[in-house]
Amino acid sequence: MKIELKRESPAHLPVPALVVYCFEDDPISSGTAGLLPEETRELLGELRDSGELKGKAYERTLIHRPAGLTAQKLLVVGAGKKEKFKPSDLGRLAGAATRFLRARGVHQMAWAAGDEPGAEQIQAVVEGVILADYDADRYRTERNGDLRIDTLVLGGENLADSDELNAAAGRGRAIAEAANFTRSLVNEPSNRMTPRILAGEAREMAMRMGLEYQELGVEEIRDLKMGAFLAVAQGSDEPPRLLVLRYLPEDAPESPMIGLVGKGITFDSGGISIKPSQDMHEMKTDMAGGATMLGVMQAIAQLKPKVRVIAVIPAAENMPSGKAYRPGDVITSMSGKTIEVLNTDAEGRLALADSLTYARQLGCNVLIDAATLTGAVTVALGNITTGVFGSDQDWVNRIVASGNQTGERMWQLPVDDDYRELYKSSIGDLANTGGRYGGAITAAMFVGEFAEDTPWVHLDIAGTRWSNEEKPYLAKGPTGVPVRTLVHLLTHLAG
Ligand code: BES
Ligand code: MN
Ligand code: ZN
Repeated sequence: MKIELKRESPAHLPVPALVVYCFEDDPISSGTAGLLPEETRELLGELRDSGELKGKAYERTLIHRPAGLTAQKLLVVGAGKKEKFKPSDLGRLAGAATRFLRARGVHQMAWAAGDEPGAEQIQAVVEGVILADYDADRYRTERNGDLRIDTLVLGGENLADSDELNAAAGRGRAIAEAANFTRSLVNEPSNRMTPRILAGEAREMAMRMGLEYQELGVEEIRDLKMGAFLAVAQGSDEPPRLLVLRYLPEDAPESPMIGLVGKGITFDSGGISIKPSQDMHEMKTDMAGGATMLGVMQAIAQLKPKVRVIAVIPAAENMPSGKAYRPGDVITSMSGKTIEVLNTDAEGRLALADSLTYARQLGCNVLIDAATLTGAVTVALGNITTGVFGSDQDWVNRIVASGNQTGERMWQLPVDDDYRELYKSSIGDLANTGGRYGGAITAAMFVGEFAEDTPWVHLDIAGTRWSNEEKPYLAKGPTGVPVRTLVHLLTHLAG
């Protein structure tokens, strides 16, 4: 997508479609609708009086040959009630405009930038447009590919084509493209996204972005004594891979060294504790945590924050077979802790356990993991909000705050020693399930046991990785959550 900044009154932009937004309270002079010439706003007044233009959230009104404008069409997007409007809603409005116009054959869209557009707004609009321009349509013979926005013009009377604003547009692009990269990985079906294929994608991205890339095979994983991760992988004919990507800028302080651990189960059948067939196909997305960390690494490789980051992604397939691990098996994790397997479908926490131990061994002194870990988190928070857990309140707060900034909703759930009883084993150190009640909490805490005394935050994205409904600003399918939040965190750490 081409992005152009133009110092020009929106009224004079020679484009197929100009986009403005307005609030419910005053749909003809609030928001950027207020920047339109008198003549155009009279037209909006008529639409308001006839009840067509209300300014409700994501309401879209298309006007052809609008009076007073050079643009061929004017799209007015409703922004809802002004007092409810959050900065992160701006990107969603831009996204809602994108999806509306694309569907009507528009390829060039102009966004009317406000009076004094700041870098943050420019970034948010670019981000929102690129996220909205994605469709999970790779396997359709009739793709939406020719229904794309190929040029975005940001125009405003006081908009400078300055280095600062161009850099902001570049950041928006890097972040949204990284999230879209994650979405394209999550969308792949498991026959086309095995651990080896995921490794290949990671390698290619790392080479393209200038990141250090390392990949461990079964022998090396065995040498590291990752008994928990290997137990999960052993039922599959597809060999596991442990992916390690490093972003270590020389000008960054020694500490913190942040470890990003992402669950990379390329298919979760449940194993011997096999899942019901009903929604099993959805388990192709069980590598969303790993795909998230790859997206984050791609973004920071371009944005270059001064912070050291290592991503560790255990990639494996959880399958039943004559070689598969069984309920009742006792396995020894890399940490030395023994685990009684009560349910082979609680495989994510096993893969994460050894990966956290390994990340600590690599020198990480802050650990953040993202995983499609439990159905229980979806019962608690639905598909809207990611569950956040952690041993370190400062890091939890930073992540929740970053979520608020990006609009990827996050909510903290508790961890507390009183829950530990629930996943004690009668035969080993830990059991890999803690029962139905508080399932997201006991799963998180199990993972946290392997962070030991290292500050750790866990994001359970089982609900938020995928959207079964099309949103006005986002296609149905993989969401890319929480790529933008983690990138925000890593790029705003200083201070
Ligand atoms: N990958 C699943 C969790 C999941 C469920 C992700 C729905 C996305 C959508 C995970 O491996 C799993 O199977 N968890 C079990 C744990 C249980 C056996 C203790 C679950 O949530 O049922
Ligand atoms: Mn499972
Ligand atoms: Zn799983």
